[in-house]
Amino acid sequence: MTTSCLIRGLGHCLPETRLTNADLERMVDTNDEWITSRTGIKERRIAAKGETCVSLSHQAALNALKDAGMKPEELTHILVATFSADAIIPSAACMLEDRLGLTGRAAMDISAACSGFLYALETARAIVALHPEAKVLVTATDIVSSRIDYTDRGICVLFGDGAGAAIVTGDTPDAPRGCPRVLDVLLASDGSLGGLLTIKGGGSGTPYKPGGTVGRDFCVEMNGREVFKYAVRAMASICKEVLAKNGLTKEAVDVFIPHQANLRIIDAVGSRMEMPAEKVFTNVQKYGNTSAASVIIALSEARAEAFIKDGDLVLLGTFGGGFTWGSALVRF
Ligand code: UT7
Repeated sequence: MTTSCLIRGLGHCLPETRLTNADLERMVDTNDEWITSRTGIKERRIAAKGETCVSLSHQAALNALKDAGMKPEELTHILVATFSADAIIPSAACMLEDRLGLTGRAAMDISAACSGFLYALETARAIVALHPEAKVLVTATDIVSSRIDYTDRGICVLFGDGAGAAIVTGDTPDAPRGCPRVLDVLLASDGSLGGLLTIKGGGSGTPYKPGGTVGRDFCVEMNGREVFKYAVRAMASICKEVLAKNGLTKEAVDVFIPHQANLRIIDAVGSRMEMPAEKVFTNVQKYGNTSAASVIIALSEARAEAFIKDGDLVLLGTFGGGFTWGSALVRF
């Protein structure tokens, strides 16, 4: 059964606090030239005390609801894609439900690292297919800074915090005309490569005991070069696949939004896709890699800045720990 799936509203939320390359130069042995030439990143946003996965998700959700012209009470399902929920129990989605003043909804977290938004979007599509009247809040949020070792120069320059949200519904009679339509989502993963990008500490495989010390494994550990190679290959390949599956060519794409991890990865994927640079939206320079939130922040911002126009075909691509990767097509 295929039910048309609409994006009724988009929103995002970024912490105010900026961490610039100049700030990092004072913290670790690095410099603006190295960071800019290897990553394209100039600054990132970092959560202040009290800003959490749930508080940023909440603000992003309110922004998306406002964009949709909807009230929180209309929501039937709440999804939060994250690896950095405020707590292990309760889930971020349950905490977000409470913060929205709701009870009795179906609420759950989804863990797919930087591909989290597309995994959550596909879950929302499945919910809408089963329940055409559903109104699903899809948020993707990571406080990556909570799991960064700021003495590790190979990692700390790359990541930032942020949240994005989309309201997803079926094409019901009450839906306004002209909403963006999700045409397709493709997802993939390869657990055999999981060891190349990890946060092990605190999981049941590496449990912490009361009074124990928090080790470096509490933070992001990564083989950057290997991740880079797989990210380029996997994202380009799954983006081509979703176009082919829908009988579309790259020329049909008006805007391409790849995962905002590193400008060199984005350029390499764009070049494999033979995508003109002017069609590729980037904001990694301002926010760094915000993990699950990356593509939904970019989608929301690209729409708000009119980089995406009515009628545009938008191609999304993600890649992250797991490894997980995915692509999606949205007609605005
Ligand atoms: O969502 C997916 C998340 N992961 C990613 O996006 C990461 C993908 N990988 C990358 O983006 C790149 O591999 C990095 C940006 C992480 C690293 O770039 P690279 O060109 O692969 O550099 P490298 O790791 O091979 O390091 C080259 C040199 C090393 O020095 P030596 O051994 O050649 O003397 C590093 O120690 O650069 C050094 N280095 C730094 N120097 C200044 C590493 N980090 C820094 C730094 N500042 N921040």
